Amino acid sequence: MVHNGIEYGLMEIIAETYDLMKRGMGLTDEDLETIYTQWAAGDTNSYLLEITARIFAEVDQKTGRKLINVILDEAKQKGTGKWTSQSAMDLQIPVPTIDAAVAMRDLSAFKEVRGAVSKIYENKIGRVREGRDTFLPRLRNAYYSAALITYAQGMALLRTASQTYAYHLDLEEIARIWRGGCIIRAAVLEDLRAAYRTNSDLANLLLDPELSARLKERVKDLRLVVQEAAFTGVPAPALAASLAYFDGYRSAWLPANLIQAQRDYFGAHTYERTDEKGIFHTVWEKG
Ligand code: 3PG
Repeated sequence: MVHNGIEYGLMEIIAETYDLMKRGMGLTDEDLETIYTQWAAGDTNSYLLEITARIFAEVDQKTGRKLINVILDEAKQKGTGKWTSQSAMDLQIPVPTIDAAVAMRDLSAFKEVRGAVSKIYENKIGRVREGRDTFLPRLRNAYYSAALITYAQGMALLRTASQTYAYHLDLEEIARIWRGGCIIRAAVLEDLRAAYRTNSDLANLLLDPELSARLKERVKDLRLVVQEAAFTGVPAPALAASLAYFDGYRSAWLPANLIQAQRDYFGAHTYERTDEKGIFHTVWEKG
């Protein structure tokens, strides 16, 4: 199930890069075939990128057009992504990229409403402000970063599920099995295996020294790509959620103190203090 949840996340991330290149940059299907073929080599190699490149080459027998352009833009699902998100919520493990992927499949199904809303807001997609030679390597790095962060979410879920339900999962072995042959097989799984070989109880892949060094090099491009998506109006919630997950974990401080204060204000739900152990409640000055 978690394999499929990661699969949903990776597919949505690839779809968002497609949208940025198609509507944001005006690239052709031939360009996309070439670019995804390049991405499918080297350290971004994955089965999903390989098939994506081939998809852009396929010609429809009925119309002679590229098949991709006659496929209806409504994603279906059999539910394993949703199930992953539900299980993650139950275990209180954040998997925001997978959540975003499920939400976008759901949203895609509202094609008629999307058509009506697009007329009201005259959605003209802006052009990516950087040239092809600068933006395409950036987008590849953004893909690498977001994909790695998606694996991190899925593995963190498996780790907690294993602890909670006494599954005794061997995460290195899981990465090895996935590397061997499945829809989410990818070169980066070798690095995941190495990370779990070094520390079989790694709390989050973001902590691994090798992976964090790679992420540090590339995550700035994820940030710039998310900025560009917001600027152009290309919806990219899985890329944005991956970045927010990274930024959240990178924050030694988060504004959750305000949430605790609000909870205590309106519901006397109490809070803990930074300078003293215990549970506290304040009788707040109410204006
Ligand atoms: C798979 O083949 O991995 C899954 O069945 C795909 O699931 P979906 O139909 O929900 O996309």
